[in-house]
Amino acid sequence: MKVGRKDTALLEGPAADGMTAGELAAYQKLLFAQTGIVLQDNKQALVEARVSLRLRALGMSSYREYLELLRHDRSGEELVQLIDAVSTNVTHFFREDEHFTFLGKVVDHWTKAGVNRLRIWSAACSTGEEPYSIAMTLDAALRGRRCDTKILATDISTRVLAEAQAGRYPETRLSTVPEARRRVCFQRVTVDGESLYEVNPDLRSLVMFRRLNFKAIPYPIRGAFDVIFCRNAMIYFDRPQRERMVLEFARLLKPGGFLLVGHAETLIGMSESFRVIRPSIYERLKDGERS
Ligand SMILES: C[S@@+](CC[C@H](N)C(=O)[O-])C[C@H]1O[C@@H](n2cnc3c(N)ncnc32)[C@H](O)[C@@H]1O
Repeated sequence: MKVGRKDTALLEGPAADGMTAGELAAYQKLLFAQTGIVLQDNKQALVEARVSLRLRALGMSSYREYLELLRHDRSGEELVQLIDAVSTNVTHFFREDEHFTFLGKVVDHWTKAGVNRLRIWSAACSTGEEPYSIAMTLDAALRGRRCDTKILATDISTRVLAEAQAGRYPETRLSTVPEARRRVCFQRVTVDGESLYEVNPDLRSLVMFRRLNFKAIPYPIRGAFDVIFCRNAMIYFDRPQRERMVLEFARLLKPGGFLLVGHAETLIGMSESFRVIRPSIYERLKDGERS
């Protein structure tokens, strides 16, 4: 039997021979140019394995052919596959929970002082656990007080954004949601025979999901935000890209607003526009103010 291109998708084993150094360099260059992600040389095995899966799914037999597809991919969908292959979307509800304790306190303080409008940005929201944790925190902090509240949640990956937008999670993913919150903020639904927890519509309506690539500066977003979460994403970028991002965050934050980064990330030495409140929490200074 003659094996056609599509049929090769059914065969076992790698879809192509090992990636050459030149091919790896071409993938690194493309990824960096389009997303700012710095792909380390030691990721070759991972890239090979993941790209191999794509080759098989597309009935392709060489890394070069796939590279050409990526170069001419106007929709950006194939690039998303590559990004998902080399970066991690790992996240969970109330990850680095001191940030949510901080947010709850600051929102309580602001609203008691008369603030009745809040804008929060979850930059690199992955599958939605971060923006929904923000929504749950605001819900608890506001305790029924009237406040015009909106959360913008962005990511480059359309795959994770679709999951986030659906707002449905298996029970195992809710292990870090306190029981009381789970009861108030989720409802059980059955989808294709699977029992899932769905974020309640009133919380979901607070969150607006959009695709945004950190590399594409200036960000097409209207500020000003009270709080920006950008956690566990800057680790993928080199310092100049991180500095450009931090400049954008400073531009889009209100003076007195806060930027929250991952615990393994820091802004120290990168910007004069922020004051360290505690590691990973930074306050946007007023223009002319010094830290
Ligand atoms: C590890 S997740 C972080 C999720 C969440 N912020 C947290 O801390 O749990 C990193 C996210 O960054 C996104 N990402 C990677 N490169 C990006 C880029 N150039 N622009 C926007 N998002 C990007 C990935 O798609 C991924 O969802």
